[in-house]
Amino acid sequence: MKILALSCSPSRGRNSDTMLDYFILGMKEVSDIEVEKIYLEDVPIDTYRYENRLGPSPHENEFAQLSEKITEEISGLVIATPTYNFSVPAHLKNFIDRIRFFALDLDKRNRFGQPVGMLGGLKTYFLVSGGTPNWAEHILFFTFPAFWLRGVFLYFNAKVYGAFYSGNIATFKNAKILEKCRKLGKRYAHKVVLQKGQGILENIFWRPPQVK
Ligand SMILES: Cc1cc2nc3c(=O)[nH]c(=O)nc-3n(C[C@H](O)[C@H](O)[C@H](O)COP(=O)(O)O)c2cc1C
Repeated sequence: MKILALSCSPSRGRNSDTMLDYFILGMKEVSDIEVEKIYLEDVPIDTYRYENRLGPSPHENEFAQLSEKITEEISGLVIATPTYNFSVPAHLKNFIDRIRFFALDLDKRNRFGQPVGMLGGLKTYFLVSGGTPNWAEHILFFTFPAFWLRGVFLYFNAKVYGAFYSGNIATFKNAKILEKCRKLGKRYAHKVVLQKGQGILENIFWRPPQVK
């Protein structure tokens, strides 16, 4: 089973990127798991506009390859990102805006009139770094990327296996947090192999409206 690890911080080797590296170490401890790491920054993606709504433009080769990888090859997607202004870096936001051509079926509508998600087989996990201490993020969780990313990918009908936030600005050299990431990676990969269902929170709070 193949898992794609998408590193979305422009700062390589810093917090979320290192969290991802340790998560990958954990995933690789599970047999039958193959992991590929990609820096989203290495994939040029034009800003979303009506004209490119149906897929990559002819010059967007890397984006076309990444889209094909997600739809055809992978079982799991791990996104590692910093928190930027209560959200994610612009390039990640744009990537998520652009993938709607394969993430949503605009010809089908659920009972609220919304398009239907098409990422049914994808198991996701989110690693988020931020400058806000963990205790404050726990209280204001709904203003942080882990909450938003869960919501978006559930809307796309993907399975969400969880999210981990670190508010330590020196996470990249914090052995305890990185060891936690390794363990979480191993647990996530086990769940992918066993095709487990998602957590209770995802099923109760974020469950997208059913299709008619
Ligand atoms: C432009 C910018 C905006 C930021 N906005 C937030 C924010 O809204 N909330 C927060 O907790 N941290 C914020 N931070 C802090 C980063 O999320 C934090 O330093 C994080 O650890 C960086 O992760 P990285 O090393 O993976 O890039 C911001 C940092 C930058 C550069």
